[in-house]
Amino acid sequence: MSKQYNVAILGATGAVGRRMIEQLAMECDKIPVKGIKLLASKRSVGKVLEFNGQPVTVEEAKPESFDGVDIVLSSAGGSVSAKLLPEAVKRGAVCIDNTSHFRMEPDVPLVVPEVNPEALKNHHGIIANPNCSTIQMVMALEPIRRKFGLKQIIVSTYQAAGGAGQSAINELLKESQDYIDGKPMEPDAKILPTKGDRRHYPLAFNLLPQIDVLEDSGYSHEEWKMIHETKKIMLGDMNAQDIKVTATCVRVPIPISHGESVYFTVEDSTATNEQIQQAVADFPGNVLQDDIKHQVYPQPLYATGHRSTFVGRIRPDYENKGAFNMWVVADDLLKGAAWNTVENAEKMVEMDLL
Ligand code: A2P
Repeated sequence: MSKQYNVAILGATGAVGRRMIEQLAMECDKIPVKGIKLLASKRSVGKVLEFNGQPVTVEEAKPESFDGVDIVLSSAGGSVSAKLLPEAVKRGAVCIDNTSHFRMEPDVPLVVPEVNPEALKNHHGIIANPNCSTIQMVMALEPIRRKFGLKQIIVSTYQAAGGAGQSAINELLKESQDYIDGKPMEPDAKILPTKGDRRHYPLAFNLLPQIDVLEDSGYSHEEWKMIHETKKIMLGDMNAQDIKVTATCVRVPIPISHGESVYFTVEDSTATNEQIQQAVADFPGNVLQDDIKHQVYPQPLYATGHRSTFVGRIRPDYENKGAFNMWVVADDLLKGAAWNTVENAEKMVEMDLL
């Protein structure tokens, strides 16, 4: 009989955690689940959620919660991961963490399973899931890098509220209703642009060019993550210079699924637009939606709820040979978070790393 696993989901009541439960339930043939623990803060103790049609009561996450657990899927915030994941590892569990806390540690693989699965072999108990906006960008670019080489990436993001958690989605929806009802919005904004910062602004009917904290370099931390995570995933070194990357990250007033305008330069300047489209279309996990004659291109509304990364509007920069533009959309809570996490666990089972 194949091996079976005890799985704990840390942050099970959150926007990503709830989706981890669903995604895991859909993969039980590939990750046979013996037992499941749903963990959250004290506030959620006693709440009942469902796994595979069965009710499961939420427990408070404590170090002892991980006794006997084989796999932890976590998305409860960086400080919770920092405190609890080393405890889980001590108790023999392998943790796949969706927060940014461990991503840049040299002995922590940062993995998108379609792009760099081999990195999983170097784990020491913790595997990091990349940032949502990085995941969909490297999904679209990796097939191009493999065939034609990449010299430079310039990305502008259009990121949904959901990346900041369920409370940010709720805030956006309430502000939208207030705006429609003619009520003032600003006094109620508490979450965005980022929890814990000094000032908050409404996102409804607005654009916020700040995701995560703003740093002295002039970049937001989200932009920093896109630059350095891309290098770590594609080149194995967060500071590699072989590919130049720069980013502008903007929060837009939609609940789920990020859009990205990606400008890139390839090494092989004989690459044609059709070859780039074909490379993207052939890559597992990608869906090419690129038919301008029929107005076919990726849109967040239609990407939501799907695991794929949708790519379209691929076109050459006619002023610069070897440079192209494209538009990339993915569900930030699925491929950008819950699905990529479950997929990493599945890959580890497949590679016999658990
Ligand atoms: P809770 O619902 O009990 O607050 P989101 O990203 O949607 O905001 O969700 C965050 C998740 O992290 C929720 O499941 C939340 O649980 C959980 N969480 C927050 N703080 C803690 C904590 N101190 N210990 C365990 N889980 C936590």
